[in-house]
Amino acid sequence: MDKIGVGILGATGAIGEVYRNLLNNHPYFSLKFLGSGSQRLEGSLSGFPLYGLEDKHRALELGVKILFSSLDTERAIKFEPVWAQDFLVISSSSAFRDEKRLIFPEINGRKIVGQTKGIFSKSNCTLHPIALPLKQLLPLKIRKVAVTTMQAISGAGRQGLSAMDIFDNVIPFIEGEENKIQEELNLILEQKIPLNITCCRVPVMDGHLVVLDIELEEVFDLEMIYSLLSLEPTIQLLEQNDRPQPRLDRDNGNGMNVSIGRLRKGEKNSLQCVALAHNRIRGAAGTGIKLAEMAYGFTQPR
Ligand SMILES: NC(=O)c1ccc[n+]([C@@H]2O[C@H](COP(=O)([O-])OP(=O)(O)OC[C@H]3O[C@@H](n4cnc5c(N)ncnc54)[C@H](OP(=O)(O)O)[C@@H]3O)[C@@H](O)[C@H]2O)c1
Repeated sequence: MDKIGVGILGATGAIGEVYRNLLNNHPYFSLKFLGSGSQRLEGSLSGFPLYGLEDKHRALELGVKILFSSLDTERAIKFEPVWAQDFLVISSSSAFRDEKRLIFPEINGRKIVGQTKGIFSKSNCTLHPIALPLKQLLPLKIRKVAVTTMQAISGAGRQGLSAMDIFDNVIPFIEGEENKIQEELNLILEQKIPLNITCCRVPVMDGHLVVLDIELEEVFDLEMIYSLLSLEPTIQLLEQNDRPQPRLDRDNGNGMNVSIGRLRKGEKNSLQCVALAHNRIRGAAGTGIKLAEMAYGFTQPR
């Protein structure tokens, strides 16, 4: 079988780096094109020439069909619609996360099946450890959720934070993040689940950990919760009382699992737990590639 030609826009960034690694010897996709706006790395990267973000014709000549875009939002707004006229563009940015284009593989992945052009946008990376367990708990009717996030440094990109700001420190604010998570959760689950959310940056390299306190309408016991969560194959339940931890658990399922532990029943029919996902794999490049597999029929959406 001939592999499908793919490229990366924004190949030099923190997400571009993970795309390059995951696409190395991929069974269905062959990396043929790397695009960068600034050519900062003197013209080549991972043995490939670096092209500009305007070099659409070169990508067509090279037989590229899918572009994984890890551009920052400003350049995504400018370049993604142009590329989407000729290619399937799977975007990591928040530029086009609207009802039509926002996609989460386990929840509404069907809408990308068979698509060969246009933009599809993955959700915010922090939404993965939040939306996936909440989706499984919908039968118990969620009243509201309190969320505290502990987000890794790599989530802010290569230029995100200086070592002086994050080393030996926690920053209890991430610009725009709390609103994005609420809005995208509502769009993906197609209902409004009120979140009381505080987003924090912590000195961890990769892996966003979230503490969830979920108020449910239906009466439940923990056995029901374990059964509902276990129905989702990419949820990995951990029984040790000091897990999940970023360093121990972010690579579960090759970085694609959402690891959940510390499940407890609290007061007023509430459920507490801690969930973790690798922000650059599950939250970005790994999910981008999974969506491309769904588009071309290599992976079936549920
Ligand atoms: N990081 C995450 O965990 C994560 C998760 C989900 C979604 N996202 C989204 O994915 C997109 C890409 O994120 P990212 O984390 O890869 O951002 P990033 O590291 O800041 O990279 C974005 C762009 O910045 C430029 N750049 C890279 N390194 C640089 C450096 N040392 N100095 C100056 N410019 C540099 C590169 O463009 P040129 O080579 O063209 O200059 C690169 O394409 C964003 O829209 C982000 O919101 C990120």
